[in-house]
Amino acid sequence: MSMRKTRKAEHIDLAIQYNEQTKSEPWSDVRLVHHSLPELAYEQVDLSTLIANRNWPVPLYINAMTGGIQEAAHINRSLAEVAKKHGLAIAVGSQSAALSDPKVSDTYRIVREIMEDGVVLANVGANVAVDDALRAVDMLKADYLQLHLNFPQEIVMPEGDRDFRGVAQNIQRVVDASPVPVIVKEVGFGMSMEVYQSLADAGVRVVDVSGRGGTNFAWVESRRRKDKTSLFDDWGQTTAISLLEGQAFLERMQFLGSGGIRTALDMAKAISLGASAIGVAGPVLRLLYRGGKEAVETQVMTWLNGLRSVMLALGATSMRELQSVPVVVTGETRDWAELRGIDLNTVARRVRHRLRT
Ligand SMILES: Cc1cc2nc3c(=O)[nH]c(=O)nc-3n(C[C@H](O)[C@H](O)[C@H](O)COP(=O)(O)O)c2cc1C
Repeated sequence: MSMRKTRKAEHIDLAIQYNEQTKSEPWSDVRLVHHSLPELAYEQVDLSTLIANRNWPVPLYINAMTGGIQEAAHINRSLAEVAKKHGLAIAVGSQSAALSDPKVSDTYRIVREIMEDGVVLANVGANVAVDDALRAVDMLKADYLQLHLNFPQEIVMPEGDRDFRGVAQNIQRVVDASPVPVIVKEVGFGMSMEVYQSLADAGVRVVDVSGRGGTNFAWVESRRRKDKTSLFDDWGQTTAISLLEGQAFLERMQFLGSGGIRTALDMAKAISLGASAIGVAGPVLRLLYRGGKEAVETQVMTWLNGLRSVMLALGATSMRELQSVPVVVTGETRDWAELRGIDLNTVARRVRHRLRT
C-alpha cells in the first residue's frame, strides 16, 4: 500500500474510534428563545435552502470524508444512497488521490452515479493547482467545489506540508477559474473574521466554518505518530464562535455550519447564528460502521424531523426566519465574542422576520 492509501484507511479507523463523549457540550452557551405563541402548523415549515443561488431540498449535507481506496468506495456508495433518498447534499473526501492516480477515480465517482442530479461537492486542498481543481470538479460533474484548509493537521502529520505561503492568492485563482461556486472549508478548527475578510477579498462567497467541537483531525493524526502529540487537541474556534465571527459578513457571504453538530437542536442553533446549511461527517461514519445504512437513515430522519419541530416551536417557517430568531449567547462563547467586538445584544433582541402570515 502507498503512504496515502495507508493514511486513508487509518483515518477511517481512528475516526470510528474517536470518542466524543469525553468532550464538553459545545452548544450549551447558545440558547434559543422559546416562543409560546408560534402561530404555525408543522406542514408550513419549509426546510429548503438556497446555497449560492441553487436550491437544496433540505439544509443538511454529508461532509467530506473519503475516497481513494475500496473501503472508501463502499462508504461513499452507502452514504450517497442515504443522501439521495432524503434530499441531502454530499461531499467526497479529498480527491488528491484520484488526481495523482486516475485509476481510483471510481471510488469518488460512485457518489455522482448514485446521486444522479442531486447536489455533489468536489473536495481538494486549498493549495491545489488550478487545472487539478477543474479536473476534480469535472470528475464528479460536481455542483460545488470545496477547498479545504487543514494546516494544524498537516503540521501534526510527519509527512505533512510545512509551507503555507500563497494560499489566499491560490484560492482567488481557483475562484476565478471554477465553473461552479467555491466553498472554502476548515476541517474542525473553525475560522475567524480575519480569515473571512481574506476569503471575501479572494472572491469567495460560501464558507464552511467546520469548527472545533466534533471530529478533531489533530487528534486523529497524532494517534498515527509514535510520540502522540496533543499540541492541537484543543485548538481553534468552536462552530458557534466561528459563526459569530462571521456576523459582519452575512451580507456578503453564506456560511455553512459544521464541526460538532450532533443534534437537531445544534442544527437550529447554528442556523440561528447565520448558517444556511449544516454538515456532518464523523457521526455518519460511526453510524454506518456500527449500524449500517439503516442506522444512518434513521439518524438523518431524526435530524430533519427534529429541526422541523424546533422551527415549529420557534414559529419559524423557513431558513430565513430561523436565521433571524433571537438567540442568547452566554458563558465562554460570550466572553470570546465580547472581547472580539461582536455584538451579541443585537442577536439577543432581534425580531424574527415573518415571511408568511
Ligand atoms: C474520516 C474523516 C475523513 C475526513 N477527510 C476530509 C477530507 O478529505 N477533506 C475535508 O475537507 N475534510 C475532511 N474531513 C473533515 C470533515 O469534512 C469535517 O470538516 C470534520 O470532520 C468536522 O465535522 P464533524 O465534527 O461532523 O465530523 C474528514 C473527516 C473524517 C471524520
